[in-house]
Order: sequence, then C-alpha cells, then structure tokens
Amino acid sequence: MIPHSSSHSSSGKMLQTTAYHAPLLEYSNELLRQPANSAIALLPPVVDMSSNRDEVCRAILDGGKEFGFIQVVNHGVPEQAIRDMELVSQEFFQLSAADKAHLYSEDTNKPTRFFSGTTFETGGDKYSMNTLRLAYSFPNGDSSKEWPSSPPKLREVAMKYMELTRGLGMELLRLLCEGLGLRSDYFEGDISRGDTALSLFQYPPSSDPSMTLGLPPHCDRNLITILLPSAVKGLQILYNGDWIDAQSVPNAFIVNFGLQLEVVTNGILKSIEHRVVTNSVSRLSIGTFIHPTENCLIGPADEFLTEDNLPLYRAMTFGDFKRIYNVIKLDSSLNLTTNLRDIQENI
Ligand code: OGA
Ligand code: NI
Repeated sequence: MIPHSSSHSSSGKMLQTTAYHAPLLEYSNELLRQPANSAIALLPPVVDMSSNRDEVCRAILDGGKEFGFIQVVNHGVPEQAIRDMELVSQEFFQLSAADKAHLYSEDTNKPTRFFSGTTFETGGDKYSMNTLRLAYSFPNGDSSKEWPSSPPKLREVAMKYMELTRGLGMELLRLLCEGLGLRSDYFEGDISRGDTALSLFQYPPSSDPSMTLGLPPHCDRNLITILLPSAVKGLQILYNGDWIDAQSVPNAFIVNFGLQLEVVTNGILKSIEHRVVTNSVSRLSIGTFIHPTENCLIGPADEFLTEDNLPLYRAMTFGDFKRIYNVIKLDSSLNLTTNLRDIQENI
C-alpha cells in the first residue's frame, strides 16, 4: 500500500535542506512513495511517419484519443544524432560531483540547471532522479550560453538534437492540425515559442525499486513532449485506472500530449497521467519539451466550440497556468491526479 503522505512533510523538509548534496546521496527509501507494482505492459500505438500523410494524421489522432501517448517511427531524426546525444548525456552524468555542483539549482525559474528530485510540488517528497535541463527559445534565443561547457561536445550535440526533435514536435503539431481541422499554423506562434527544454534524466539504481519512484504521477504542462525511451524500462502510463509499463519499439520516440493540447482541443485530446519507476540498474532518458511563452493566452480553439460544445477549460496565460497548477499540487496529498477540469473548477 502507498503510505499516507502527511507524515512526510517534516522529513521532506529535512531532506530539502540537504538538497545541495542530493545528487551525491542515495535517498532514504522511507521518504519516497511506494509505487504499486505493475504487471501489464502495453505498446503505445505506433505511428509510421513514412506512410501516406492522411494515414499519419489519422493514426496520430486515433492513437492520441485512445491512449494519450503514441510512439513514432521513421521520424526523420538521424540515428547518429540520437546516439551522440545519449553518449554525451552519459558523459555528463559521469562527471565528478564537483564538476557538476556549480550547475545545481533548486530555482524552478532558472531555465538551465542541474537538479535532483522533481520540479513538481509534491508536498516535500523527493524522487530519485537527477536532471540536467537545457533551455533555448527558438528561433534565436541566447540561453545556450548558459549550457555547461563540459563535456566539450555537449553544447553542439544538444543543440543539434534539440533542433531535430523540436522540428519533429512541430511537424506532429502540423499533422494534428490537419487531422483536427485547425489551420496548419495554429501552433506556430507564441504557443510554441517559449523555452524548448531538453532534459537529460538519470534515474539512479535503487536498492528497492518497489519503494522508490523516479517521478511522481503527473501530466506534462507544456504543449507536446518528445521522449527518447531508454532500453531500461521505467515509464508507466495510467490506462483505464492501471499503471502500465510503456514499451517502445526500436528507434521510436514516445510522444506525449501536454495539458495545453488538452485545453486547445477542448478535451478532444487528453493529457494522460504518467510516472517513472526505478530499477536496480541506472536508467537514462531524454525529453524535449515544447512550451508556450509565459504571456501566451491559451484556451479552447474557436473551431471546437459550438452551441453544443461549450468551452470546458478557461483561457489563461501559460505563466498563470503553471502557477495555479503548482498551488493545487501543493495541497494534494497522495495521488497527484491531474484532472484539469476539476482543478479549474476549484480556482
Ligand atoms: C517528464 C517525464 C519520463 C521519463 O519529465 O515529464 O515524464 O521517462 N519523463 O523520464
Ligand atoms: Ni512527463
């Protein structure tokens, strides 16, 4: 059973004060939530992007509606760029703690930083993961100056990988527009011109994976996420009330619709809750997250609203959305169930 979380807050605080050392320490298992074991493994629907365009549009939409997650193959991102990115990520995590310490920050407003635990407000609980987050706002941001200069190839490799995976994300958004009957440039402006974040996740080996989560249950708050899965399993998706292991086929990216897509489509697409469990071996995964700008006002698109289809979500700026989402999360105890409509009714 999952222990109740109210007893966690004081010990959680204690852990936070030592957070600077967090990447160097094993977490105490008792501070972490116990995930229920999952027995079911399921493949998110596979979309072959080399098929005919109409078929691809339909497959993305059908897969998205049914499952909330899809995986894409023949996506056009060269294998070499992916292998280079994996390699440089491994090299980064292998740097000594002293070489990474200057990047460490708990400030969630800092676009580029190294941190441990999670950015989600979880009432003080910490999760077993280390992350290097690199941010860049396309088309011509300057934040890459802040990216680490070590390993020496990291900046170049990460920028290339980010451009390629962001390009894939934008193409998927265009295909979604076609499938949904939205004008094809709907996602071209401020709604996708905030930071693109490239997060390198390292989930350390756990001595007791059944007691240690890598990431709490959450929905992604951004527009769309392109995830490079690891050979080591860990991502679980809530499907019909069960946590299932999300398996992927070789050379696929897992694509996850963010909460902003749920809002824009007035709930036609759902952002699905997911979490990460740990293993007895280390796991590396790499995510590309496309975000709106802070001031971008996002609500259901007019195309989805009629007399019979009233707006189910409020329009609000992305900055407000993130603030409200965090406040609600602070209060929630065990299950961070993110039913956006319930949350919005409580504002
Ligand atoms: C995330 C996430 C999954 C993973 O960062 O939002 O869901 O496998 N990551 O690291
Ligand atoms: Ni996520």
